Amino acid sequence: MCGIVGVLGNHEVSPQILDALKRLEYRGYDSAGIATINRGKLDLRRAVGKLINLSDILVHEPLPGRSGIGHTRWATHGGPSVANAHPHRAGRVAVVHNGIIENFRALREELGAEGISFSSETDTETIVQLASLYLERGMTAVEAARATLKRLEGAFAVAFLFEGEEDMIICARRGSPLCIGHGQNEMYLGSDAIALAELTDRITYLEEGDWAILSRSGALIFDADDHQTNRPVTRINVETARVDKSGHRHFMAKEMAEQPRVLQASMSHYAGLSGGDITLPAELDFANTDRLIMVACGTAFYACQVAKYWFEKYAGLPVELDIASEFRYRDPVLGPNNTALFVSQSGETADTLAALRHVSPHVAQVVSVINVPTSSIARESAVALPIHAGPEIGVASTKAFTAQLQVLALLALKAGMQRGRLTPEAFEARLAELRAVPGFVAQALDREEEIRRLTETLSQARDVLFLGRGVMYPLALEGALKLKEISYIHAEAYAAGELKHGPIALVDTDLPVIVFAPHDGLFEKTASNMQEVMARQGTVILISDAQGLAEAGDVPYCLQMPTVPEFIAPIIYAVPAQLIAYHTALHRGTDVDQPRNLAKSVTVE
Ligand code: F6R
Repeated sequence: MCGIVGVLGNHEVSPQILDALKRLEYRGYDSAGIATINRGKLDLRRAVGKLINLSDILVHEPLPGRSGIGHTRWATHGGPSVANAHPHRAGRVAVVHNGIIENFRALREELGAEGISFSSETDTETIVQLASLYLERGMTAVEAARATLKRLEGAFAVAFLFEGEEDMIICARRGSPLCIGHGQNEMYLGSDAIALAELTDRITYLEEGDWAILSRSGALIFDADDHQTNRPVTRINVETARVDKSGHRHFMAKEMAEQPRVLQASMSHYAGLSGGDITLPAELDFANTDRLIMVACGTAFYACQVAKYWFEKYAGLPVELDIASEFRYRDPVLGPNNTALFVSQSGETADTLAALRHVSPHVAQVVSVINVPTSSIARESAVALPIHAGPEIGVASTKAFTAQLQVLALLALKAGMQRGRLTPEAFEARLAELRAVPGFVAQALDREEEIRRLTETLSQARDVLFLGRGVMYPLALEGALKLKEISYIHAEAYAAGELKHGPIALVDTDLPVIVFAPHDGLFEKTASNMQEVMARQGTVILISDAQGLAEAGDVPYCLQMPTVPEFIAPIIYAVPAQLIAYHTALHRGTDVDQPRNLAKSVTVE
C-alpha cells in the first residue's frame, strides 16, 4: 500500500529509484513520482498511472541528482492525479509517505490559519507543509522533521528530503514498514527489502516508532523516545528477494506454477522429506488451549475458514473465526487459555496487525502464519510460522494461499496429537496425505488447457455463482474472490445448502454456477443442490473427481480433478479456482497482476 524508496548515492539516483519502485509497484500503481536534489536544488517528476508513465516522462525530462526519494501510490485521500501524486513539495522540503495521517483535517485547518494553501487533496501534504513551516521558523532540517513527526497521528512510514541537504534523508516508521539498506558509501531506504535487493544485501529493519537520519556514511537511528539506538544489520538472501517472471506471462502464472515446489519446500521445512513427525517451535502449545481464535483478511481469511474444519475435526478444538477489520471493532470475549492465530501473506495487513495487538495481552499465546518472516505480524507474534512461499508479487494471492493451507493443516495435526485426539496411526496417515499434496497440485495444474477452454464461455458472463459444502465452501468463496478481483466479473459464493434459502432466485440460463464437489461424504448433498440449479436451467460447471463426475450424471460442463484424500482436497481444489480466474481474466484482457483499484499489501485500515 504505497511504496517508498530513498537513495543517497554516488551516481545519478533516478534510475536506481525507478528500478526499486518497479519492485514495489505491487503496493500500488495509481501514480508514481521521484524527487532529487541536484546542485543544491530540489526538483521532482510525477505521473498518474503505472511507473511506465513516470519512466516516459523521465526520458524527456531527466531528473539529475545523487540524492532522491521515490513513491508508488495506492490512493487513499484524493484520487489518482498528478497533484495528489507523491513526492509532495512545499518550499525546501519534499516528502513521500505510506499510510494515513489521521489528524490531517485538524492540521490542514491549523496550517490554513497560517495562510498556507494546499495544492493537493492528500493527507500527506500536511506533513510537507508543516516541515516547511518549521524550516521557515528557523529550525534545522532535523529539528523540522522531528517536530513534524511529533504532530502526526496515524499509521505511516515517511521520508523527507531537504533542499540544500544533499547528504541527508530523514525517515520514520510508525505502523508501516520501512527498512534501511547499507551500501559502499551509499545508503538506501525502502518499504521492504525486496525494493533494495538489486542495491544491497545488508538491511536494517526499523522498529515501531523509530526515526532515522541517513547520510552516505551510515544511519543514526532513534527510538520513539528520541534515544539514539542500534538496530542490527541483517544479511538478506538477494536471490530469494529478487523478483522476475521467469519466462511466464504474468507473476500470477509464475506463482501458480511454483506451487508444487513451494509446497514441497514448506513441507520439508516442517516435516522433513519423510518420517512421521512435525517440527514446530517447542513453546507452541495446543494441549491447554480451550479456544482457537483465527483472524485474517481476504484470501488468508478463507485459508482460516478451511482450517477451522481441520482444527475441529482433528484436534477437537473450538474455533472462532473473524475478519480482522470486524474483529477489532467488536468486543470479542477473550480468555487466558485462548490461542490467537493470525494469517497473513504480507505480515503487514493493518487490520490483522491491529487485531493482533488488540488480543495479545489477553490470550495465552499469539501465533502467526506469515510469508514474510521480517514482517510486523511475525515480529509481534510469540510464535511466527513462515510458509516459505517466496515473494508473491501478483496482487491475487495464489501460492501463499495453498502454502498457508498446508502449514495450517500441519498445525491442526500437531494440535490433534498434543490434545490426544489423533492416534499416532491416524496422525501418520494424515501426514502421509499431506506429503502427497505437491504431486496432486502438479496434476491439478496439468488441467490448465481444459480450464482455459472452459473459461471461453465463462468470460462472457455478467455474474457467476460458486457453490461448495464443508471445506469446499471456503474454496467457493476463494474462487469467487479471485474471479472478481482479476476479471471484474461479479461473483458470489454460497454454501451449497444455503442456495434454496434465497440465492436460487438468481438462477437463470445466463448464470454460470461453478460447483466444487469432490466425491466425499458431502457429495450426495452437493449433487442434489446442483440438480436444483440445473432444474432451473442454470449452467453448471462441476469440478470433481472421476467418481464424482461419474455419479453426477449429465452435467453441462465438467472438470476432472485427481482423486485425493478428503483431508487435503481443499489445497488441490484451490488450483482450478485460481486457473479459472486467471484464464477468464486473460480472455477479458484485464490486467492480471495489477488489477484496478487494488494493491498487494494493505497497510491502511
Ligand atoms: C486476494 C488477496 C487479498 C489478501 C488480503 C490479506 O487475492 O490477495 O484478499 O489475501 O488482502 O493480505 P495478507 O495475506 O497479506 O494479510
